[in-house]
Amino acid sequence: MTSIVLDEHVHPDIRWAAAHMPLLRAAFAEPEVRAAFRGLRVSVCLHIEPKTGVLCALLAEAGALVTLTGSPGTTRVDISEALRDLGVRVFAEQSDVVPQVDEVLANRPHLTLDNGADLTTAILAELSEHPEYLGGTEETTTGGILLRQQGGAEKHPIIVINDSPLKLLVENRFGVGQSIVQGVMNATNLMIPGAPAVVLGYGPCGRGVANTLRELGARVTVVDLDPYRRLEAVMEGHQVAELDDALLGSRMLFLATGQPDVVHAAQLEQMADQAVVAGVGHFSWELNMGDYGELLPGAGGQQTRFHDRYRLPSGKIVVVLAGSRMINLVAAGGNPIEAMDLGLTLQARSLASIARGAVTEPGVQPVPQELDRRIAGDFADAISGKLGV
Ligand SMILES: NC(=O)c1ccc[n+]([C@@H]2O[C@H](COP(=O)([O-])OP(=O)(O)OC[C@H]3O[C@@H](n4cnc5c(N)ncnc54)[C@H](O)[C@@H]3O)[C@@H](O)[C@H]2O)c1
Repeated sequence: MTSIVLDEHVHPDIRWAAAHMPLLRAAFAEPEVRAAFRGLRVSVCLHIEPKTGVLCALLAEAGALVTLTGSPGTTRVDISEALRDLGVRVFAEQSDVVPQVDEVLANRPHLTLDNGADLTTAILAELSEHPEYLGGTEETTTGGILLRQQGGAEKHPIIVINDSPLKLLVENRFGVGQSIVQGVMNATNLMIPGAPAVVLGYGPCGRGVANTLRELGARVTVVDLDPYRRLEAVMEGHQVAELDDALLGSRMLFLATGQPDVVHAAQLEQMADQAVVAGVGHFSWELNMGDYGELLPGAGGQQTRFHDRYRLPSGKIVVVLAGSRMINLVAAGGNPIEAMDLGLTLQARSLASIARGAVTEPGVQPVPQELDRRIAGDFADAISGKLGV
């Protein structure tokens, strides 16, 4: 089936992404998937960039009424404009620090597709005003934790995509690993081989970052509270240490715990002068600068525009890249296209299952197992070249 996303007139970055997203295009080529979405109102909160643009365009092409807002600080304005031309109602500015939740929920959605749980927590808190709501999907681990803590999903299924072992393997471990390191290289032009680097948090994301750094020749030290994760890091050949010891003399710090306030600014004094700090986790809350150190005027150059430079009381400079927002989104175009094809296909097929009434259990839950297995097989075929793009 031909699709608008491959059309010569569509934004070239959306077309390029779509050309390498065979799983998502195959899903929307299925009559049952298109029928599941036809006429439904879908409110979406995602980083607005070409790959998520492909998903929104395909939803709109299938006949859904899509309203979209962006995750904070990552919206690409040219992609927003291109999506408006494809029939998506977009409420987002590049400068947004919070998603425009009220605007997209004014759509009175049947379905939500979320990244960070802003939409879903809002709708679950006022369910009586949304009698048409059927359920939704949540992309992130952090969002899944928030939803489980908050409660309120007793009547509707909310599928957490990051609970899928498949997604954790392909996107978090391999996709995030590659793109975070690529983001730091783009934002700094520094050499990775030989660099003493600290990865804080050895979940799938931190593990992917640590392994990518090591493959490029960095000297990696891992810090994690969980002894099993520390053991895994040791067995995979990394140094493991407490945070202050790990930071001593290091030149790069990657924040991959997903938790708030895990590093306090004074601890950065251990690092080398001009060391860089990069965000991996969903929220830029892992490093707490407080009022420690002086934020110097913006660097502003082409190479240095993402550099938030702090002069610490010792006189050392530490460079926090883009306020520790996810550096792969800020400086590297996000996760690789194929990894996002997988994650967004899990999103689309999970949401279609909810729309069709095929997910009968309410509550916050993982991707249905048979769906996960099927997409694993499709992805293995696609990535090894057996499924034509
Ligand atoms: N940048 C991206 O493109 C991208 C993509 C997917 C997920 N994420 C985000 O990355 C973050 C990590 O994801 P994950 O799947 O690896 O999560 P995870 O929860 O599996 O792993 C986090 C690890 O950090 C450790 N940890 C927690 N608090 C700690 C502390 N105070 N000190 C040391 N270690 C600590 C935990 O023990 C755990 O091993 C999440 O916020 C997730 O939303 C980012």
